[in-house]
Amino acid sequence: MGSLRAVSDDVRVGCAVDPASLRTDTDYRRTVASEFDAITAENAMKWGRLAADEGAYDFADADDVARFAERHDMYVRGHTLVWHRMYPEWLRPWTRSEAETERLLRDHVQTVAGRYRGCVDAWDVVNEAVADDGGLRETQWLNALGPEYIDRAFEYAAGVSDADLFYNDYGADGLSEKSDEVYDLVADLVAREVPIDGVGLQLHVFEETVPPADVAANVERLTELGLDVHITELDVGIGAAVPDEEAQADYYREVVGAATDAGVDTVVTWGVDDGQSWLPERGFGEAPLLFDESFERKPAYRAVREALGE
Ligand code: XIL
Repeated sequence: MGSLRAVSDDVRVGCAVDPASLRTDTDYRRTVASEFDAITAENAMKWGRLAADEGAYDFADADDVARFAERHDMYVRGHTLVWHRMYPEWLRPWTRSEAETERLLRDHVQTVAGRYRGCVDAWDVVNEAVADDGGLRETQWLNALGPEYIDRAFEYAAGVSDADLFYNDYGADGLSEKSDEVYDLVADLVAREVPIDGVGLQLHVFEETVPPADVAANVERLTELGLDVHITELDVGIGAAVPDEEAQADYYREVVGAATDAGVDTVVTWGVDDGQSWLPERGFGEAPLLFDESFERKPAYRAVREALGE
């Protein structure tokens, strides 16, 4: 059996990676390089990781991911420029003036999106701006700058980057009140000609599965706005959502098949192997990825190949 990245000419399959594991773990590195043709830094391009100290960026880890991607001819999803989590501690307390907060946001977006111009193919410009109970999430950015912070982030990114610019969120994968909110948000951005190119559906699955037909319907309505849709953080925890490896494989097959049939051309799993996944340590289900902790291909891996037409 060849590699996953060779299965489809139309759909890229990616994984989120940790630069330390890429450097030190031979099996991890070999799996990422041979199986995937898209990549996301799981944490290394987040603001708090890039700029732990005020006024000084450290791009070493993020650059490692970028170089790895280039060497292996991978599509790069940059994640993420503006989020309400994993920002530097020195941004606290949030008592700066509006003008100063906006300057910080602008400088950050321009610095990072500008540095990876020509390398990052798609940026998650704004992450998780919609609240679970409707409306925009009450974040530092919303409080300081109002809803326009979203426009500004996209505009600053567009000024320095040639990447496709995405809005990314969770719990908005299928058809739900939250996905309606996300739809309304991005439809409004499109209508006002804010430079947005796409929507990322995270698709973390642990409490319950999202009906694949609903994912397809959501992809279709977003596509009708003229936006690209990527599946950006796919993982399927064994537990409440799916009882075992076989059910997990079935769900991967159905949801990847439905999404790609509806026009999704990029599917990224949130990690590589079950030994290094964020879900179990949070109690969100077990063994959610395509490779087990020994980097053996799981039933879910074969199911994704089938979904891609093999
Ligand atoms: C997670 C990482 O996987 C963890 O390692 C980190 O501790 C917290 O962030 N939505 C996102 C991702 O957009 O950035 C999050 O990643 C998972 C949820």
